[in-house]
Amino acid sequence: MSQPARMTRRTFFRGAAVILGGVALAPAIAACTTSDQPEPRGYDGDPRPLPIPPLYEGEMDGDRRVFALTTRAGQAEILPGVTTPTWGFNGDVLGPTLRVRRGEDVRVDITNELDEMTTIHWHGMKLPAWADGGPHSPIEPGATWSPEWTVDQPAATLWYHPHPHEKTALHCYRGLAGMLLVDDEVTDRLDLPAEYGVDDIPVVITDATFHDDGRLDEEIDPTLGLLGDTPLVNGITNASFAATTRRVRLRLLNGASMRFHHLQRADARPFHVISSDSGLLPAPQEVDSVLLSPAERVDILVDLAPGEETILESVPLDNNFGIPAGENVTDFGFGDSFTLLTVTGPGDNAPEPSAVPTTLDPNAEATPDVGSAVRREFALNTFRINDQLMDMNRVDVTIDHRDPEVWVVTNENSDWPHNFHIHNARFKVLSLDGTDVTEVLTTGWKDTVALPPNSTVELAVEFGWHPDPAVPYMFHCHMLLHEDEGMMGQFVIVEPGQEAALEPMSGRSH
Ligand code: C2O
Ligand code: CU
Ligand code: CU
Repeated sequence: MSQPARMTRRTFFRGAAVILGGVALAPAIAACTTSDQPEPRGYDGDPRPLPIPPLYEGEMDGDRRVFALTTRAGQAEILPGVTTPTWGFNGDVLGPTLRVRRGEDVRVDITNELDEMTTIHWHGMKLPAWADGGPHSPIEPGATWSPEWTVDQPAATLWYHPHPHEKTALHCYRGLAGMLLVDDEVTDRLDLPAEYGVDDIPVVITDATFHDDGRLDEEIDPTLGLLGDTPLVNGITNASFAATTRRVRLRLLNGASMRFHHLQRADARPFHVISSDSGLLPAPQEVDSVLLSPAERVDILVDLAPGEETILESVPLDNNFGIPAGENVTDFGFGDSFTLLTVTGPGDNAPEPSAVPTTLDPNAEATPDVGSAVRREFALNTFRINDQLMDMNRVDVTIDHRDPEVWVVTNENSDWPHNFHIHNARFKVLSLDGTDVTEVLTTGWKDTVALPPNSTVELAVEFGWHPDPAVPYMFHCHMLLHEDEGMMGQFVIVEPGQEAALEPMSGRSH
């Protein structure tokens, strides 16, 4: 079987940007694609400024930080000059960046102004199950749901998104996603770019396919789900960020429904990864590229010379993530290549950045001792976990202790990618076996890990301790078609000796 031509790379990709009098003469930056994939729309004109979701720090109600979110329908100019009907939080598309501090009590009042039920989940938070926003916490149209919790975890780049039973992919695809930043004393002390929207930049990567009239193509492919052909950053195509400093921190979120992104600088220069899903690394890691499966995050530091232009692009993995290549197999987009974001450097008098800190969060170094920990196995196969489809009335795992556990997760498919996410938890990847793919991100504390075909990961998992026999947390593949089709299970955390006793869905408050 012959391998399809990988891509047609435009030669100007690696060419230096032409700068005259501080004005970059932007070449018509087009995303390059595999030869059998139509060129994404929205990349043939000049880049547009990167939209920065508003920073929203809520209002204090006594000691509690309170946010008000509304889910609603709107319309946005995702493609230049084209109007697309969308969904958003407090706006037309995506949502504000919420910011909280470790130790704080928070509440979010979410009013659903859509005409259908949804739920909102705090991806990466440790919090009580009733507040977690999984499929057991429906918010009916017109209703307001008010989860409360105490932020009790290290600084991290988290996010929030819908999680309704069997409908998560569509609700996210229509535009519902936002970032949720946690700060703490460690981040206060570090010399990292920290001015939101100036040198600390949210980068929410999603994708979509459009009808000619601009409407989203919502046809769900039985294998690829809502894998879009057009990449979007913060809700638009062909985005460009004009840096005013020589170092920027990009908070990269793969918020895509199905697509993995192998990210690098088009100039092939290295950058530093400073955090993984659940918080800062012990020390920065210099890399040439990073692979993010859906829902994974990294914060990276990108250094820029004055006037320099750097392009963040998504490129194929050499090995196609272990998925067999050929004419009659699906490559899940692993062969695609895209321009995602252009970053232009500051003016000549921007001061040189200081040295990258050598230490970030020393507390992130230790891996929990799991010598005598409970071990559980999870086999992912097509749309099932351990041969079962998701059942809202079944408890798959009951945890009645406070200790870490070892979760061993295997992708039993030989030609499908998966990943694995656990709510109310963070984990270290102890091992990855059964695959030659070396790009899987296994560094630091995580809540989601990619699984190439036939691979097995061993995870040392720490859970938040909020025992409640009545409401479950989820674990699942975060490729949203897989999740919606049933590749999800439920666990409860209970007091020692207690048993799970699920309450009928109620959207309750306490
Ligand atoms: Cu990002 Cu179960 O969620
Ligand atoms: Cu989650
Ligand atoms: Cu999957």
